[in-house]
Amino acid sequence: MDIREVGVVGCGLMGSGIAQVAAVSGFPTIVVEANRELSDRGMANIAKRLERLVEKGSLSAGEHAAVRQRLRAGTELSQLAQCDLVIEAITEDAEEKCKFWRTLDPLLRPDAIRASNTSSVSITRMMMATSRPERFLGMHFFNPVPVMTLVELVKTLATDAEVYESAVRFTQKLGKTAVHTTDRPGFIVNRLLVPYLTDAIRALEEGAGSISDIDCAMKLGCNHPMGPFVLMDYIGLDTMYFIANILFEEFREPRFAPPGLLKRLVIAGRLGRKSGKGFYDYFDPASPVPLDQSERL
Ligand code: CAA
Repeated sequence: MDIREVGVVGCGLMGSGIAQVAAVSGFPTIVVEANRELSDRGMANIAKRLERLVEKGSLSAGEHAAVRQRLRAGTELSQLAQCDLVIEAITEDAEEKCKFWRTLDPLLRPDAIRASNTSSVSITRMMMATSRPERFLGMHFFNPVPVMTLVELVKTLATDAEVYESAVRFTQKLGKTAVHTTDRPGFIVNRLLVPYLTDAIRALEEGAGSISDIDCAMKLGCNHPMGPFVLMDYIGLDTMYFIANILFEEFREPRFAPPGLLKRLVIAGRLGRKSGKGFYDYFDPASPVPLDQSERL
């Protein structure tokens, strides 16, 4: 099946990135949010990013106008009725997602491909909330979506080979690389990344180095674009805590358990960049201050 029209549900960080990339890649795209305010906010973020691409010369004025025409916003799920592919990027909550798919499923074309951008909720559980498990798969994008070139394509026991192949071709048309994975917690990237990041917290607690030394060590010593604490603040400490818990519940190995410090930061509302404080204080976002310099963790 050739994917022509794309629907995205959720216009937050991930949904807005996916919708932007789909529209830039030539797909008529509709992005649906729960209400007008959230929709306007998400679309304004996309507009800003597109303008930056024009300023940098990565998008011509003509292409920019065409992208704006291809990209529509809405607040009604019925607006997704004609889409060949619908990618859900709503809040990362298993109950919410299953409830959402039960509502959306009957509004879609029977042959529409149903995909979730979840990083941690079971694809199998969501697909069972639909009437078409064979047309369901995971499409896990990475943040920031316009920059990161990987998509994890998650096949379940039920996903049709033809559906999977359509998703591979679509991913390629977005200029991204698909890796094939199965429906296990963390898929590939988070299964490896999250234990590494939480281990950095343990290294900090054991006194291996300060936040800035550990970040500097991994940036310069391994050529990572961000050190582990900067990256955790970027991902969001609540998201980190959530994924670590899911991995621990599945594998029951201490190395997957979220460290106490991560839990305390989340309870205290220090969620990273988005809340202004995490392992760093972003009072001045241009020069974040590591928290271990100013207070005991
Ligand atoms: N949206 C769009 N473009 C962005 C962007 C954003 N949010 N942030 C940065 N960019 C673009 C910039 O415009 C710039 O583009 P050009 O090269 O064309 O000018 C380019 O990215 C580089 O940006 P900067 O020079 O500002 O900064 P940088 O070189 O430090 O790169 C970064 C920023 C791309 C975020 C880089 O630090 C990076 O790759 N970090 C690691 C990100 C990562 O690991 N993401 C995965 C998180 S895990 C995840 O998503 C999975 C999960 O389920 C939790």
